[in-house]
Amino acid sequence: MAETNSATKDILAVRDLRILFPTRDGRDTVKAIDGMDFEVRAGETFGVIGESGSGKTTLGRALVSLIAPTHGHILHNGTDPESLSTSQFRKHRRDYQIIFQDPNAALNPRMTIIDSVIEPLEVMREGNDASRRKRGVAALERVGLSPETAGRYPHQLSGGQKQRVNIARVLTLRPKVIVCDEVVAALDVSIRGDVLNLFSDLQREFGLTYVFITHDISVVSHVSDRVAVTYLGRLMELGQTEDVIERPFHPYTRALLSSEPVPLPSSMRVDKRIILQGEIPSPVAPPSGCRFRTRCPSVQPRCAAEVPAWRELKPGHSVACHFATVEGPPPDNQNAPRAQ
Ligand SMILES: Nc1ncnc2c1ncn2[C@@H]1O[C@H](COP(=O)(O)OP(=O)(O)OP(=O)(O)O)[C@@H](O)[C@H]1O
Ligand code: SF4
Ligand SMILES: [Mg+2]
Repeated sequence: MAETNSATKDILAVRDLRILFPTRDGRDTVKAIDGMDFEVRAGETFGVIGESGSGKTTLGRALVSLIAPTHGHILHNGTDPESLSTSQFRKHRRDYQIIFQDPNAALNPRMTIIDSVIEPLEVMREGNDASRRKRGVAALERVGLSPETAGRYPHQLSGGQKQRVNIARVLTLRPKVIVCDEVVAALDVSIRGDVLNLFSDLQREFGLTYVFITHDISVVSHVSDRVAVTYLGRLMELGQTEDVIERPFHPYTRALLSSEPVPLPSSMRVDKRIILQGEIPSPVAPPSGCRFRTRCPSVQPRCAAEVPAWRELKPGHSVACHFATVEGPPPDNQNAPRAQ
């Protein structure tokens, strides 16, 4: 499918996305992403939150074409990158970049910082050595690193400085979209705010669109315009960050919020503290019906039999739960046995 609609405001459109991996023994299938549909608008920060194993990194990698969808499509500004020729794809994908949690992941320990920063430009054969270096130093300065940093090696920098180098490296390509996968999780708490503020400044300056993947609600509430809540490869809830955090519809979102150790504003507290119990089930054999049902305090017999429809309960605020209402998640069901 190749759509080209320059008038679209959706810089990313995810359509019936499924990403499956074979298990290690090759006998089964990991359903890392098992049916997702959503759009990311140009210029917004779109948060993705969920527990470990819910498919966030797989989604992020797919959004920037590092993994191809097993089923469905991801449209980049209306174009399916899978439909491009190799040379078109090479040019196209510089607009869609990703930064990972580990600040060392993209840095070669034997290369100087400037060589790492300009490496993507060399790969793209852009400019000559002098112009690339000039752009690299300018990018380092823009992310708050002095020109002397250029000649250093990764081991001579702090984690925060290395993450700034990673941002500079991506910036040299002048991307449209940056997927940020837990980009501050490995950093000292004291410097997370500075790095998040840098992301905000760069967004304003360069008109960037971010997909901010995190398991940290305080990060999502700090940076995101909208947030998608993921569980076992599917979306549970999606809406404006303020709405989702202050008036969640889904029992899973409510549980995530109340298990968060950071102090929450009173509007976000729920009457009874709900801690997420038990492990997330295996994505090889997710529960039937609603995949949150094995841990849901509101579970009913219907939840095992029927996959909840995706319902927009309020404009721009959608949920996948049979019993959620505009008032919020359904009440706990003390009597019903937990469905297996
Ligand atoms: N290449 C792969 N081969 C097989 N299984 C994979 C592969 N990549 C991811 N998975 C599995 O897919 C599921 C989702 O993984 P993913 O890394 O996307 O989750 P995540 O939400 O990013 O988790 P975390 O918060 O721990 O980073 C996990 O069960 C994981 O083991
Ligand atoms: S009430 Fe049922 S449908 Fe709603 S989240 Fe719980 S298990 Fe899923
Ligand atoms: Mg991850």
